[in-house]
Amino acid sequence: MATTGENRKTTMRPRTELDLPLLLDRTVPEPLTTQLTRQLRATMRDGRLVAGERLPSSRALAATLGVSRTVVTETYQQLYAEGWLDGRHGSGTYVAGLTRTTEPEPPRTSTHPIPRDLVLQADTKYKITTESGDAVDLRPGVPWVGGLDNPAWRRAWRLAASVVPAARPDPYGLPGLRAALIDYVRRTRGIACTAEQVLVTRGATNGFDLLAATVLGPGDRVGVEEPGYGRARAVLAARGAEAVPCPVDEHGLIVDGLPDDLRVIYTTPSHQYPLGGVLPVPRRQALVAWARRTGALIAEDDYDSEFRYDVGPLPALYGLDPEVVVYLGTASKTLTPDVGVGWLVARPDLVEAIARRREEVSDRTPIVPQEAVRILVARGDLDRHVRRMRAEYARRRATIVDMLGGLALSGDSAGLHLVVRLPHADGDQIVRDADRDGVLLDPLERHFGGPATASGLVIGYGGARLRDIKRGCALIRSLISPS
Ligand SMILES: Cc1ncc(COP(=O)(O)O)c(C=O)c1O
Repeated sequence: MATTGENRKTTMRPRTELDLPLLLDRTVPEPLTTQLTRQLRATMRDGRLVAGERLPSSRALAATLGVSRTVVTETYQQLYAEGWLDGRHGSGTYVAGLTRTTEPEPPRTSTHPIPRDLVLQADTKYKITTESGDAVDLRPGVPWVGGLDNPAWRRAWRLAASVVPAARPDPYGLPGLRAALIDYVRRTRGIACTAEQVLVTRGATNGFDLLAATVLGPGDRVGVEEPGYGRARAVLAARGAEAVPCPVDEHGLIVDGLPDDLRVIYTTPSHQYPLGGVLPVPRRQALVAWARRTGALIAEDDYDSEFRYDVGPLPALYGLDPEVVVYLGTASKTLTPDVGVGWLVARPDLVEAIARRREEVSDRTPIVPQEAVRILVARGDLDRHVRRMRAEYARRRATIVDMLGGLALSGDSAGLHLVVRLPHADGDQIVRDADRDGVLLDPLERHFGGPATASGLVIGYGGARLRDIKRGCALIRSLISPS
């Protein structure tokens, strides 16, 4: 169904300032206005921004990018003059164009209230009993599932239950979900792709495993960040590949000196796991150049990219070179790992090979979660949830930074965890002491595949209530600097 220019404001979801993947570089001679104009023009030309989409206000975009408002207003004026933008006084700035297809309304269903005792009581779920009873869980890797107990979540699952099952599941995933994801990754991560490049997985780890099952043979060498994601190492061990530790620093993967014989490198550029670095652009460029030169593939795990605080968004690494990057997205952090839905974006021949391999090993994503996620994405409910959670996590993170001020904190600009570095190798001891007091902590040491070369605590703030986070931080302070 086509919409007219008049009604499109109500049918298009407004683009928030945080969703525009733009990057301004003050170290190059090109003026900021020219850079911004060029990048916005490119996003409209290649379809990452589509006709009718609303751009952020000049004030909001200037704040996000950390530039003066004049840079943005001059950019918008230039793009108006070129006919790329369209706007009416007081009603916002839109990508110019006449028509756009709207999202079909989901079927109407009855809305009988769900009995209270059947509604997910999510926030009790991650409490684990220790010696001292109910524990406060400050380990990383879990989102705030308490935030999901809302009508949009329940409606999506109710509607999803009516999806017609296929006798022969599509190994690429539900076409409707793939279409919704194309729009989602374009808006949120600056990724331009078509349906043949998207495969629905059960999460980022499952996507990495499918890639490994497709392209790796026994003994193949695969780079893994060190310290890094233990499950990525476990996937490789299960597939008979060799995990090669690749050092990271506070900015993320150190690209200089990567071995030339790696078949794949697994990396987390938007928020290095667990240290939290955001991989700078020159390293991103060097990484794809390395992959081009050596023939390696880059597995980009974008697991918590939706959550950023003081920093503007960096587009996904995938956009730099879709030939060599395999993008792994997940709903595990934005919704919950219990949904079991993620997505993989790669070049078409690779996705086809993965889809074939997947059928051979009878791996698939169940249809009802796929349909539920499709509904949440297509209706804008996921975007709204992410915005709410961003605010919630920002509050928690600010509390931790405040309470642990003076300690060596890092990796707190994005994601759902941060790291407290400890000068001595006492992370394990502090974790044991905290456990006795009912606070579950995660030692940085655990994240090394080889011998740990740093000590610290990886503090997750997704799973605990704010008041429990405060209790945990007070305990951490007393354990690190006993009075
Ligand atoms: C580095 C990293 N990648 C991915 C994930 C999510 O994995 P999945 O999508 O398989 O649930 C997590 C969750 O903790 C993680 O820490």
